[in-house]
Amino acid sequence: MTKKFELNDLMLDLAVVSAVLLAPITSWILGWSLLSTVAIMLATLVPLRLYLQTLLHPPVSPLSRRNENVTAVITGGSMGIGNELAKKFAQQGYNLVLVARKREPLEKLAEEISQSDNVRVEIVSLDLTEPNAPEMLYQQVKNLNMNVEVLVNNAGDGMNGYMVDLPLNEQAAILQLNAAVPFQLTRLFLPDMIARKKGYILQVASTAGFQPIPFMAVYAASKSFVVSLSESLFFELQGTGVTCSVVCPGPVDTERSQRPDLSDKALFKYLPVFAPKDVAEAAFDGLMKGRRMIVVGLVNKLMAVGAKFAPRSVVVLFSALSASKI
Ligand SMILES: NC(=O)c1ccc[n+]([C@@H]2O[C@H](COP(=O)([O-])OP(=O)(O)OC[C@H]3O[C@@H](n4cnc5c(N)ncnc54)[C@H](OP(=O)(O)O)[C@@H]3O)[C@@H](O)[C@H]2O)c1
Repeated sequence: MTKKFELNDLMLDLAVVSAVLLAPITSWILGWSLLSTVAIMLATLVPLRLYLQTLLHPPVSPLSRRNENVTAVITGGSMGIGNELAKKFAQQGYNLVLVARKREPLEKLAEEISQSDNVRVEIVSLDLTEPNAPEMLYQQVKNLNMNVEVLVNNAGDGMNGYMVDLPLNEQAAILQLNAAVPFQLTRLFLPDMIARKKGYILQVASTAGFQPIPFMAVYAASKSFVVSLSESLFFELQGTGVTCSVVCPGPVDTERSQRPDLSDKALFKYLPVFAPKDVAEAAFDGLMKGRRMIVVGLVNKLMAVGAKFAPRSVVVLFSALSASKI
């Protein structure tokens, strides 16, 4: 993969960090205190960095992609966050390929969207955990002859309880669905996007990916994999015209979250629970702006920072409490 030099988000970040690291020299030259120099630098550089980022990734205006024959492939596109993402992309003029196991909800949504937004909607009823399912999906999409500009790896699942008590096969399938499948689909769709010099990959992870979570061990570990993979890929793809963003919602009010094993957990009782539509809006906006990571909501952002800096044992204790009935 060859790259040409161009201003990108990484360079903007490096410029801000370098300027702040040079604060002691600047404060010595200007005769200001170090604290006020750092404060002034952050107050000017951070808005400047955000402004430059919007120049790099001008927001897509509604309906701007209509008649351009661009397609978004969305896994888990029948329900919850995936359903809202499908509607959002359709409103922007994207044709859709929606993937899930159950055909009926897919057909219902496809009919609703094709009537309201006048876009082409194809459905693929497929269990993505089946052997070779990602390859089969890629081939089916190729045969549809659609110009795939967006891949959304959204399908995911989880189980709660002691890892040793939960069934091995079901946990292995969750690991496959949440971690291996997004990797495989990304690897399959990416070369075509790079060849066309345009593409967006959205990985739907979770704030669960920022720390281990006892009683949701496999889910949290699988989402950590997605966060790590996505951030590496974001770096590797600089200058190719393709971006990889990861969205990390906290608790979201979907069918999955209403299951008895999840709904009575502390995280759904005491943390802000978002509507899937709000998550889809934030994810779409961040994806189009080429953001590396999209954490939805202020409390989730603060918790993400806390998980980075607090002692690991304390972080694990709090996450165990959040996944418990209290
Ligand atoms: N809800 C939350 O609180 C929350 C928070 C953070 C992150 N997330 C993440 O957001 C994503 C979506 O979650 P959600 O709450 O919107 O889930 P959801 O309402 O349960 O929807 C899951 C979607 O994935 C499909 N799916 C599940 N297993 C599949 C399989 N083996 N093969 C193909 N499709 C499959 C489902 O359709 P079928 O059942 O018909 O296959 C459905 O369309 C997940 O990755 C989840 O981890 C959710």
